Amino acid sequence: MSKATSLYRCEICGTTGARWSGRCPACGEWDSFREEAAPASRRVTALAGPSREAVPLASVSLQREPHIASGLSEFDRALGGGLVPGGVTLLGGDPGIGKSTLLLQVAGNLSAAERTVLYATGEETPSQIRLRAERLGVHQGHVLLLSTSDLQSVTADMKERRPALVVLDSIQTFQVAGASGLPGSLTQVRECAQALVVAAKELDIAVFLIGHVTKDGSLAGPRVLEHLVDTVLSFEGDRHRSHRILRVIKNRFGPTDEVGIFEMGSRGLQGVSDPSRLFVGEGVQEPGSTVFPALEGTRSILVEIQALAAPGPQGTPARRVSGVNPNRVALALAVLEQRARIPFSDRDVFVNAVGGVRIDEPACDLAIVLALATSRIGVALPPGTVVLGEVGLAGEVRRVERAELRLREAARLGYRRAILPRGDGEDASGTAHGIEGRLQIHGVGKIGEALAILERHARARGAAAPPR
Ligand code: TYD
Ligand code: MG
Repeated sequence: MSKATSLYRCEICGTTGARWSGRCPACGEWDSFREEAAPASRRVTALAGPSREAVPLASVSLQREPHIASGLSEFDRALGGGLVPGGVTLLGGDPGIGKSTLLLQVAGNLSAAERTVLYATGEETPSQIRLRAERLGVHQGHVLLLSTSDLQSVTADMKERRPALVVLDSIQTFQVAGASGLPGSLTQVRECAQALVVAAKELDIAVFLIGHVTKDGSLAGPRVLEHLVDTVLSFEGDRHRSHRILRVIKNRFGPTDEVGIFEMGSRGLQGVSDPSRLFVGEGVQEPGSTVFPALEGTRSILVEIQALAAPGPQGTPARRVSGVNPNRVALALAVLEQRARIPFSDRDVFVNAVGGVRIDEPACDLAIVLALATSRIGVALPPGTVVLGEVGLAGEVRRVERAELRLREAARLGYRRAILPRGDGEDASGTAHGIEGRLQIHGVGKIGEALAILERHARARGAAAPPR
């Protein structure tokens, strides 16, 4: 067993193999396999720790992981309550999205609560960080700055000062002496993360690793890191807009479906407690636009879906999609063509979710279908309408998760009408959801029935009947 063999590891996804391969079998990347020495000695030490005895499951205490509230409510919401001592979190995101800003604000809040924070930076100079802290107006009294790329200095400081939180900005700039590779290489990133996981657990300190994403949108060595850490967060947003979404991709200490929503302003990131207004634009009364009550964690956020079906040149028409799943758009187009006889083959089609959000729920199908149909026909939906429902290949409209929560949010924001799956509509027209009288409910079973609502509205307004 102790034979020293070589191991090959994909730099992109971390897949290992006993033989070199020109193309990674897991992620498909070319020339990404690098040789590394098999860590035989480490394996032995890992097994040779203090001996532990198995205990009956029922005797294990039910104590929940205590969370330290950061005081940034959207941050705490995403994390299921706040920071967890001993927990290691990876915060990934595009450069310039606001990762350093977010964690400096968290550091300031902890400092204000008299908790020590160690901010280790291999990326920016101390004066740059001080300048940012001044601009943000964060509390600085208990924030210790360590400008280094040497990981051992960080762990030594952790041992000595016992901070409540350690931030590494960024993990790609640190290195462990003795491990091969440059900072940012897969080996270094993994070794650093491993050492921090050990230190965090041993000292019961919350550790945040900032990680840059590569051009294809993944973190360097993502799967390796994702396995090592307890929590993975992704900080996202449209660079041209001010709001940011903090998504939880993995969380050992809480739910993964919660998101935090922020707005970047001149004094840093502010939590947005009423986010629906961010994702619905001005043109919502126009043909080609529908409003979909999306589900983000335990809340519903209204998002405008926009479609444009423009006469295209000869040849293959364009299909450009952002913010929604392109497969759902392809399905919506096929269903409209086949089941409703609305042709798109001569049209360039653009579909977009407003505000740079990303929607992956099938419940968005009917909103995509109606955005496409209204754009193609040139007639808008009645004002104040929300649309939800999954669409099947036969043009049937299927029920969605948590319809009542979505409708309540729509009603709260002053929407007056909902087009939704028949079953959900029947439920909603009952009295249980607190929306009675505030939303006119149109339950539909087929997309044809949804299109008929559009037709009736067009006729009532004296517009030409849609070409069907
Ligand atoms: P930063 O936190 O440095 O991003 P990251 O660490 O993810 O690379 O944020 C940089 C951007 O945020 C930069 O473009 C300036 C902007 N910003 C503000 O708009 N307001 C602020 O108060 C701060 C500190 C930054
Ligand atoms: Mg930064």
